[in-house]
Amino acid sequence: MPEPSTEQVAVAAAALQAGELVILPTETVYGVGGDATNAAAVAAIFAAKGRPRFNPLIVHVADQSVAEQLATFTPLARRLAATFWPGALTLVLQRRAGSGLCDLVSAGLDTAALRVPRHDTARALLHASQCPIAAPSANRSGRISPTTADAARDELGYKVSAILDAGPCRIGVESTVIDARGSTPVLLREGGVTAEQIAEVAGSPIESASAGTKKASPGMLEAHYAPSVPLILAPTGTIPRAGDALLTFGPVDRAFDKAAEIVETLSEAGHLTEAAANLYGAMRRLDATRPSRIMAHTVPEKGLGRAINDRLRRAATGSAGR
Ligand code: TXA
Ligand code: MG
Repeated sequence: MPEPSTEQVAVAAAALQAGELVILPTETVYGVGGDATNAAAVAAIFAAKGRPRFNPLIVHVADQSVAEQLATFTPLARRLAATFWPGALTLVLQRRAGSGLCDLVSAGLDTAALRVPRHDTARALLHASQCPIAAPSANRSGRISPTTADAARDELGYKVSAILDAGPCRIGVESTVIDARGSTPVLLREGGVTAEQIAEVAGSPIESASAGTKKASPGMLEAHYAPSVPLILAPTGTIPRAGDALLTFGPVDRAFDKAAEIVETLSEAGHLTEAAANLYGAMRRLDATRPSRIMAHTVPEKGLGRAINDRLRRAATGSAGR
């Protein structure tokens, strides 16, 4: 898949500067982006997604020096940024007075969620537009995140001025969100960088968000990533019911094929990175066959498997299939 041309990136950058929205690729998922300093553009993102205004957005920047102008870095934040940026890590930090970010992008909180993406096209767009880009995943609120430009176009294409298509996203699940304001990392969302990797670099165990911090990260919505039919979670090996669509991991058992209407495996070989990259596409394909129900087998709860299981659990809640 060729990357978008310099001209296409320039058109999208001009749209951002004019306060319009664009769909952009990142290494995690496709985002719907707007100028994070422009309140009208950010309001348009909330409206396009139907996203509740209490749920703040991630701001993408070209590099750490830009990030440091927007928010106050702790020693922990510097350590994590040095290792994982550019990449699938978002840091929640204290906003700086005079950052220029609009208040709505933080949903009125005194923090900002910042990420330096690795994807070449996202970086080219950040350089060409010279603005911090607020970009949540390019799906209607609560639905399955897009990992291809076509999926993003289906969700929100009619709301944007430009779509940059760079093929499928390499990682396939969203960035890991860490509150790095203190001396130990607090995990606000599992994602492309694993909790094990974060703990190793932080030199301290990772704290999981308590009920109190959940309030501080309003995006930890229970229901999300939902297909349009009920999705239920089941331990690996559970035989589906007749008529189910099955989402499994590892080789496909004959008994699954016999019982289910349709079966998809996230990774025949049982690789979690491959499974993450396939997750949202497989959910979309199964959903499109309009089965009476999707049964999803959980994956091993380690590394990227945690992010995959987290998304499956929320999909189950969101589709009322639990
Ligand atoms: O991989 C990703 O992170 C993608 C790509 C496009 O970069 N973006 C993405 O954004 O997933 P979004 O808006 O769908 O998810 C942002 C998450 C939400 O859970 C939100 O609540 C949390 O980050 N968040 C954003 N700002 C926050 C803040 N100031 N404090 C706590 N949590 C915040
Ligand atoms: Mg999202």
